[in-house]
Amino acid sequence: MPETSNLSGQHILLGISGGIAAYKTPILVRRLVEAGASVQVVMTANAHQFVTATSLQAVSGNPVRDDLWDAAAEAAMGHIELARWADQILIAPATASMIARLATGEASDLLSTLCLASPAPVSVAPAMNQQMYQHPAVQRNLASLEADGYRIIGPDSGDQACGDQGPGRMTEPEDLLSALAQHPLSGDDAGSLTGCTVMVTTGPTREAIDPVRYISNHSSGLQGLAIAESARRAGATVILIAGPGVPSAHWQIERRDVTTAQEMYEEVHNSLPAADIFIGVAAVADYRPANSEAQKIKRHRHADSDMKLALVENPDIIASVVQSGQVKVVVGFAAETNDTLNNAREKRARKGLDAIVVNDVSDRSIGFNSTNNAVTLIHEHGEVAFGTQPKTVIADQLIRELTPIFTAKTAQKL
Ligand code: CTP
Repeated sequence: MPETSNLSGQHILLGISGGIAAYKTPILVRRLVEAGASVQVVMTANAHQFVTATSLQAVSGNPVRDDLWDAAAEAAMGHIELARWADQILIAPATASMIARLATGEASDLLSTLCLASPAPVSVAPAMNQQMYQHPAVQRNLASLEADGYRIIGPDSGDQACGDQGPGRMTEPEDLLSALAQHPLSGDDAGSLTGCTVMVTTGPTREAIDPVRYISNHSSGLQGLAIAESARRAGATVILIAGPGVPSAHWQIERRDVTTAQEMYEEVHNSLPAADIFIGVAAVADYRPANSEAQKIKRHRHADSDMKLALVENPDIIASVVQSGQVKVVVGFAAETNDTLNNAREKRARKGLDAIVVNDVSDRSIGFNSTNNAVTLIHEHGEVAFGTQPKTVIADQLIRELTPIFTAKTAQKL
């Protein structure tokens, strides 16, 4: 069972849009109510095709709303009042159409209007066919929502109601509950990093071999992006140094885009005097080609012998941050394929880090290119493991766990 005590007394507005996963929502409402939350349900017109308002009313104990123009419902609690009532909004399932409406800021139905009118944090649990989920338009809309501060939970990957296999299954009710319970703005964490400047590096770097080829790795940058976002929600000023391909970040996050390790090193050191905390999530290429060719290397140049690529070492950015002594806390990440914990403990000591977060990338269903992760945080006072969960939830948990260290060290050295 997830830890859900934070939900007790919270007002949760559950928005249901028209996808097959809506059949799971009465269970979700039931679990929220059992955790002590008050739940109001808002359905879109299409959601009625998959679940009945009668069931949702029975489990929530409140009338279900679906119409912006329902005079009786408006008289009981106007939609602006309902928007203000919510401590958190969860849209589950969020269909491609719902996501598109939210991304464009439409107020064409009650649910999209409430999302615009509410100051509460909004979490969105996408659910749709895997082909739809992977469509660039849907991905673009999800990236816009993240940039606007919405939290995306899931989706899970696996068997789909339509018979397909892949990403697009709505996150299970238990995991949604746990994500809501861990939202930084729902607990005591809001404002816990106010006054701190946190610098985060994320994504891969690309080291050019010639104008068309490069050395890189599988990093998506999503975990670092989620950490930057959690730190921002906890009140920090955030500087994000992002490698290529990292989706857009919230407008309040100061973002610098870089391509190579050398550029990342320079951007980090340019902004380091402003930072109190450094979190290195980037998968920095340790080596780069000794000479990046100005013209495309032709195959025939090496036709009679194997091609050999001479490499030179890139700077170790995080180690240079530690050595500079300019920040008060340095947290590293380690992606390992074997002897995970021992390698990470050794790396933390070798690089002089306050803490290191390690994940086992030999399991390809999590970590690289996945929205889920499972990590262990190792710091001077102990080790904490966080099981497989959305990267956004892991980020919230890491920021919460690290905050006492941040607070102690930043206060100590002021
Ligand atoms: N890191 C960095 N600069 C580098 C390499 C790594 O800042 N040139 C940071 C990463 O952002 C991460 C930590 O160091 O926070 C560990 O990264 P990893 O690649 O696991 O470390 P390496 O020193 O490259 O160790 P390995 O021998 O396992 O490659």
